[in-house]
Parts: sequence; structure tokens; C-alpha cells
Amino acid sequence: MLSPQIDTHGEMLNFLAQTRGHFIGGQWVSGGDVQPINVVNPATGLTIATIESGGAVEIDLAVNAARESFDSGVWSKMAPVERARILFSLADLIEEHAEQIAHLEALDIGVSRAMMHEIGVKLAADQLRYYAGWITKIGGQTINNSRPHASGREFLTYTVKEPIGVVGQIIPWNFPFGMSIGKIAPALAAGCSLVLKPAEEAPLSVSYLAGLIAKTDLPDGVFNLVNGVGRKAGAALARHMDVDKISFTGSTAVGKDILSAAGGNLKKVTLELGGKSPVVILPDADLSEAIPAAARAIFFLNGQNCMAGSRLLVHADIHDAVVKGLVDIAKAMSIGSDLDNAYDIGPLISKRQMTRVLAYIDTGLGEGAELATGGKRVSGLAGYFVQPTIFTNCTPNMRIVREEIFGPVLTVQKFETEDLDEIAGMANDTVFGLSASVWTGNLSKGHLLAGKIKSGQVGINVHAAIDPATPFGGYKQSGWGREFGREGLEPYLETKAVTAYL
Ligand code: NAI
Ligand code: MG
Repeated sequence: MLSPQIDTHGEMLNFLAQTRGHFIGGQWVSGGDVQPINVVNPATGLTIATIESGGAVEIDLAVNAARESFDSGVWSKMAPVERARILFSLADLIEEHAEQIAHLEALDIGVSRAMMHEIGVKLAADQLRYYAGWITKIGGQTINNSRPHASGREFLTYTVKEPIGVVGQIIPWNFPFGMSIGKIAPALAAGCSLVLKPAEEAPLSVSYLAGLIAKTDLPDGVFNLVNGVGRKAGAALARHMDVDKISFTGSTAVGKDILSAAGGNLKKVTLELGGKSPVVILPDADLSEAIPAAARAIFFLNGQNCMAGSRLLVHADIHDAVVKGLVDIAKAMSIGSDLDNAYDIGPLISKRQMTRVLAYIDTGLGEGAELATGGKRVSGLAGYFVQPTIFTNCTPNMRIVREEIFGPVLTVQKFETEDLDEIAGMANDTVFGLSASVWTGNLSKGHLLAGKIKSGQVGINVHAAIDPATPFGGYKQSGWGREFGREGLEPYLETKAVTAYL
């Protein structure tokens, strides 16, 4: 049932009124469980649309369509300039439909349209253009051999970069549009065909994207979309024997499941998983910069961000000033969600996620952490809102310090030392290694500390700097491989070495 109070113009109303199926081989296809999945606006708790719940059958159809298009060479062997032109045209189409995309995404995850424009649509178009630019530059090397044949003849060896084949891509709900482009842009740039499985919690903008892709000259079957839940559609994609590579973003637990499912045919795997990213503030930091940045690092999208700076490590000399500054910011934050107004704190994605976050807050209290502010569900709002929450007096063995909460919950640990190895030791005391930032007035110290932190991204006086050209991914249990940048192309390419006698 559509919620009547959603103010949306005709096109979006129409879009939301149709149960979204799957996009396979260039056609919208219906299939899956009899019961569709309800798509809920987390700001109201109301169902705004339904999607079909595909499973192994739909995944199989989509993989077959991808395989046919890949083996035919219709995309992988298309002239690179032509492939680039098609990706550039998709970037233009995305910008032309920025309003619609932002509208759907805003409803789906509970943020304002303006915020979605900036972090969803604009970054996605930039990323497509970035990878479109690579298409004409992908190439191999000639190799300087040192093993001439006994007869005295020489080898000529060159390498060729080839698309890996059929790719499965599974994304989460926190930035669905940007996340989908982040996955499909390098795969298409490499010449692969793909099957994308969005998160069941936030599938709308990705479904809209399929409609835009249908308007481009991308050959049918190169891009396929299957809607459905993780343990059915997602699991079927991960174990499919005719998928050459799987790329997953989501929880570390599911990342491990994907890895074992991929073992059947040893498909290649890249994983972008959880984090517990440290924000380290040294005593010489400019607190007028560091405090608001530390607040943004944790509270951006209510902490539902894999790079969230959820673990604050702060030197004793400035600890009280930093905590006071953060508590003041948290208390002043606006809480709410509608399409036209930006709020500092919006809803968590689902009731389940809210329950999870509130349970972690209880755990923190039970472990003896001190609640400096927040800690409760927001009363008076129907959606899944949790107050911005700060725990002080946290110690390294607490679960709230060790586990990814994925909500607006910050833990603060105090340290006395100025020894950079000891400080790095605290920052590295985690199974994760996705992102980190260090705050200092001394850039040399910043670089030295950056060198000691085991993390895929380290910011010096900045947290979570994202750019299409900058490699992104995790050390340790935060993942395998990198996305973005030149390195983000590699997982979609095979290297073939060709050798001949001269
Ligand atoms: P999840 O990892 O279960 O879901 C992410 C995607 O994986 C969705 O598309 C889902 O349908 C799919 N999936 C789930 N189980 C699968 C399976 N067995 N095989 C294949 N695909 C499967 O994440 P969830 O449940 O939405 O969130 C739980 C926690 O995961 C969060 O609280 C957070 O800690 C973490 N998370 C981390 C993200 C990140 O960006 N690193 C994004 C989303 C969640
Ligand atoms: Mg899940």
C-alpha cells in the first residue's frame, strides 16, 4: 500500500506504484516468491513500494544472459572509444535524472534530496566518467626476458589485459545508488558483463538506474539486475558456477559466507566489509577543526557508513575539551527526515538495525562505559531514529569498542602517551582496518603516524576523503582488494602473457 502523505510528482508516484521486477537480458522480467518484499521508508515506517523477491531461478537467468552477452563479444570486443562513449552517455543521463534518483534514494534511506544529490548522484556521475576515461587506456606491457633459449634465440613476451568475464555484484543499503555505480563502472570499463543484486532494504534507485541503462546503447545482457533477499538471491549469485568473479560490499559476517560460497568454482572475490575506524586526536591538534570533523566522522548518515570514525582516541590533555565540544554538537543536532529539509540525524535504515544499535547501547552501559549524551530512541517520531550517542571512559576490551555498531554511537578512549608507536598500537587494536584519521598541528607526526596505522585509508586532518581516483578498501577483516582508482579496475581484468620465439 502506498503511503498517501508522500508528496511526490507523477513520475515517481507511478514508479513506486509498480512492483519492481528484475532486469535481465534487456527486459523487465517477473519472478520469484509469491510474496513481494515491502520497501519501507525508514523515516515513517510505512511501505512505499514493493519489489519481487527473486531467487536461484532468476539469478540463473541473469547469469545466462550475462554469459551470452560476454561470450558474443558484443561488449567486451566493442571498440574502446565506443564503450567509453556509452559510459559517458550514462553519466549524462544520470545527471539529467538527478531529481528522480535523489527523490527515490531520499525516500528509500530517509535523507533529504539535496544530500542525495551531492553524495549519491554527483559522485556517481563523476565515477562513471572517471572509469569511462580508463577504457581507452587499458593495456599490457612488453616484457624484458632474461632467459634466452639454449639455442640463443630470444623470447618476445607481451601481456594483454582481458575482461575477467561474468561478474556478480552485491551491494548494501547505505548508499545504494553510488554503491551500484561504484561497482558497475569499473566492471563495464573492463569489458565485463554483470549481474547486480541490490539490498532488499533500499532497491529503488538501482531499479531506476536499470531504466536509464536501457536508454543507452549498452548491449542487452551486459547489465542485469536481480532483486531479492541476501540468503536467496545473494547466496545463489555467490555460489553460481558460471560467475567468474564476485564483488561484495556489506557486513564482515556475510563477506565470510560469500568467500566460502565462491569456493565451488574458485571465482575471484573482492570484499569491502565493515570497519571500526579510529579518529586519533593529538594534543597539538587544532580543536576548532578536529572537534566538528570528529562529529561528522561518526554522525554522517547516522553512523551507517563503513568508514565511520566510531572509535575516538584522544590525548588526556585535551580529552575534556574534546568531549565537551562533541557533546555540545550532539545535543544541538537536528533530528528528522523529509525530502526537502536536511537534518543532522535521520533514521536508521530499518527497525532491525535500530534494535541492533539500541542493544549495543545497552551493552555499553552494562560494560561500564559512561554515557555522555544520547542513548535512546527518539520519542515522538514514528521512524527509526536513535539519538546521537557518545560513550566516554571506554576501554579496549569493551564490545562497543571492538564491534561495528553501524549507528550514531561514538566510543571515546583517553590516552596519556605521546609515543607514536604506542598510539598506533591503540589505533590498530581492532580486527578491522578500513579507515582512520589523525589530527595534529605537526604534519611530520601526521605522516609518521599514517605510516604506522594498518588501514586502507588514513586521513591527516581529514576523515574519509573519497574520490573516484583514490583506491578504497580494507586491511585485515575490512576486506579483500581495492575499489576506485586504477586499482579498482584490476580485479575485473585477467592478465595473459603471450610468448613467441624471435
Ligand atoms: P548484509 O551484509 O547482510 O547485507 C549486505 C548485502 O548482502 C545485501 O544486498 C544482502 O541482501 C546481501 N546478503 C546478505 N546475506 C547474504 C548471503 N548469505 N549471501 C549473499 N548475499 C547476502 O548487511 P545488513 O544485514 O544489511 O547489515 C548488518 C551489518 O552489516 C550492519 O550493522 C553493519 O555493521 C554491516 N554493514 C556494513 C556495510 C559496509 O558498508 N561495510 C554496509 C551494510 C552493512
Ligand atoms: Mg543482512
